Amino acid sequence: MTADPAAADATGGLMAVPEHGRGVDELLAEVDARHAGDLDWRGGKAFSLVYHPDDDELEHLLEEVGRRFLHENALNPFKYPSLLGMELEVIAMACGLVGTAPDAGALTSGGTESIFCAVQVARDHARTERGIAEPQLITPSTAHPAFAKAAKYLDVEHVLVPVGPDGRADVAATADAMGAGAGLVVGSAPCYPFGVIDPIADLATVAAERGVLFHTDACLGGWLLPWWERLGEPVAPWDFRVPGVTSLSADVHKYGYAFKGASIVAYRDRSLLQHQFFWYDDWPGGLYASGTTAGTRPAAPIVGAWAAINKLGVAGYLRMAEVVRDTTRRFRDGIDAIDGVRVTHPPDLSVMEIGVDPHADHVPDIGAVADVMDDLGWNLDRQQGGLHLMVSPYHAKVVDSFLGDLAKAVAAHGASRGRTATYGGVAGGGDRPDR
Ligand SMILES: Cc1ncc(COP(=O)(O)O)c(C=O)c1O
Repeated sequence: MTADPAAADATGGLMAVPEHGRGVDELLAEVDARHAGDLDWRGGKAFSLVYHPDDDELEHLLEEVGRRFLHENALNPFKYPSLLGMELEVIAMACGLVGTAPDAGALTSGGTESIFCAVQVARDHARTERGIAEPQLITPSTAHPAFAKAAKYLDVEHVLVPVGPDGRADVAATADAMGAGAGLVVGSAPCYPFGVIDPIADLATVAAERGVLFHTDACLGGWLLPWWERLGEPVAPWDFRVPGVTSLSADVHKYGYAFKGASIVAYRDRSLLQHQFFWYDDWPGGLYASGTTAGTRPAAPIVGAWAAINKLGVAGYLRMAEVVRDTTRRFRDGIDAIDGVRVTHPPDLSVMEIGVDPHADHVPDIGAVADVMDDLGWNLDRQQGGLHLMVSPYHAKVVDSFLGDLAKAVAAHGASRGRTATYGGVAGGGDRPDR
């Protein structure tokens, strides 16, 4: 967050609300000026945060529906029959896509909230139906940090299981890690760091054999894997067709190409979803009920998700999936052809890590390679073992220039500037409490 130091000084370190308001044009100009320094994803040089569909009509539609519902409040859907209808349709379509009943899911603000809900449901299911007072959450080390965050906020013990050399969850180690208190086992389809799909069927079987719930985190793949499969690509089972899968998250704001604020959490049956509902009738304000963690909810993401799905339809999603698949192959083949680097784990989808090839004649310093790529305007997130790349349709236009620049960066780079791996952040900084 940037604060105006002059304004802060005037109030002894606190930032003051401006005495007088400013004009619309002036404010828009300032917002544009500030925004100009942000991540520029439009040119295809970013590989995370924004999924660039390369579809002007879709973008226009989303902006229009967002504007129409900017001020509405989805807290009370009965005041907005339109929102209620569109939300139920989005949920029903998503549930159908992943193979569960149309009323067995909820629309949340994003992957993290979907994961929170699934962890809370599993915790309460273990407590009320299995008599486990302190249920454990068991995840592979590659599972998204949203699980660690949910464990922290919901006060659930988190058991992390190291993944195997192929980057996938280790089924035997997971079974060993499951104590009597196991409440939820997790697998990703795919995991964010490497783009590989965990052995969902085997993990879910291990969980089911002990009566434990199993969550597939398909936040990333949920709106791409169904089309991948229809394109004839090999896709290991990951959704509710796997008997032991009891909940699943799938973000419409990722490969569903809706704007931010839309994810689905779905359950094998509605009785699990019931654990998520909150009813409170001991308040002078009247009965309060909600289905997800938020109270007041923005309406625009609901309509945005509905509009994106209906604009694209199966045919649109298939068309985009084909572009993403072909572009992914070009990236993979091109990276592997550069002496010194390789894709570290052959990905199952459109996400990969670029790391050094330890057997190459010349093993580059990957941090220094990233510095050169930064200087050339590319935005590759740094992971612990390499650089992260997530493919969107627009990237079809930049594969060749990317590969050319990467080859040059690998062949000639200086010393690393020492930037460390980061993902996400805390506004205004934030001190780590554990350091
Ligand atoms: C596999 C996976 N799970 C969960 C999340 C969290 O989603 P969000 O950032 O929408 O909260 C992500 C985000 O990239 C992800 O890749």
